[in-house]
Amino acid sequence: MAHPTTRTFHVLLVGAALSLAAFGIATAQPAVENQPALDVPFVPTPQETVDRILSMAKVTDSDYLIDLGSGDGRIPITAAKKFGTKGMGVDLNPVRIAESNAAAKEAGVTDKVEFKQGDLFEQDISKATVLTMYLLPDVNMKLRPKIWSDLKPGTRIVSHAFSMGDWTPEATTTGPSGGNMVYLWIVPDPKVGPKGVTR
Ligand SMILES: C[S@@+](CC[C@H](N)C(=O)[O-])C[C@H]1O[C@@H](n2cnc3c(N)ncnc32)[C@H](O)[C@@H]1O
Repeated sequence: MAHPTTRTFHVLLVGAALSLAAFGIATAQPAVENQPALDVPFVPTPQETVDRILSMAKVTDSDYLIDLGSGDGRIPITAAKKFGTKGMGVDLNPVRIAESNAAAKEAGVTDKVEFKQGDLFEQDISKATVLTMYLLPDVNMKLRPKIWSDLKPGTRIVSHAFSMGDWTPEATTTGPSGGNMVYLWIVPDPKVGPKGVTR
């Protein structure tokens, strides 16, 4: 099945989130039979953007990358294949986990990456040196305290499309057509605190 372009996804998703929020309706995707209720629908990051995410994070074979809401696993799999990076993807949808395991096998990186079915809010992310995500603004905001408390200072956080409120990114980039914005943050020393955030 063809997916909408990511630009369309952003517009639709933010529009939908705003209008649902305006009516006081939760933005989680309702559970359908035998499938969990998702906080974000599956829309894959285009390969150009995956490559840019990994380049902004400067991933190496010494990193451990976690993709929260990992979809078909393309971010950890690309990192493992191109840079030898170890890592993990977490997705609530078992169909995505099955696709990711098949893709990892196909790419020959099952010794480097693993995929776990579970809720992204409940994962132990403390091992990550790079955390990637393509979620939604409210999900990013809900994750911020966990990012600041559970990750080591210096960990790189890279988000496709969505910011994290007033936390000032270290860098942003866009794709060749000006879309697919990517944000990079570095987890700060707790004594210094996150740039731009007044707490
Ligand atoms: C926009 S897709 C991003 C996929 C992938 N990270 C990428 O960039 O190509 C978001 C993914 O988050 C997953 N997801 C949604 N809510 C989740 C939750 N609470 N816990 C774990 N995964 C979730 C969806 O199943 C979907 O695969």
